[in-house]
Amino acid sequence: MLNLKVHHIGYLVRKKDAARAAFTALGYEIQSDWVHDELRGIDISFLEKDGYCIELVCPYRKDSDVSGLLQRMKNTPYHICYLSGQFESDLSELREMGYLPITEKAPAPALENRNVVFLLHPALGMIELIDHPEA
Ligand code: NI
Repeated sequence: MLNLKVHHIGYLVRKKDAARAAFTALGYEIQSDWVHDELRGIDISFLEKDGYCIELVCPYRKDSDVSGLLQRMKNTPYHICYLSGQFESDLSELREMGYLPITEKAPAPALENRNVVFLLHPALGMIELIDHPEA
């Protein structure tokens, strides 16, 4: 049975330092400095406020995983990420529920190199799943 826990909200931004400054001006605290994710072509920094974890995502090259999305959507939240304690069975259950994996399972340097996968649902849009056996 699915028992996913929300880990973060992914937030796409065009200018990473200006965006982070704007978040901290609202009272967010920086949890981790920028991590360069070379597989996906993005820089990532985590922020926290009132128990909410925000993942700032900023492409550093034109062919990044999210460049097209950023062009269409501008600065915007764009996924909710969940911790999965039983990754393979959660994945197959999600597939049965209509979620389609849109990336290969691959390690995320901003998340202690845990494996993550992104999935799309026709009615909900994009989610991220982190392989996190302790969750
Ligand atoms: Ni994320």
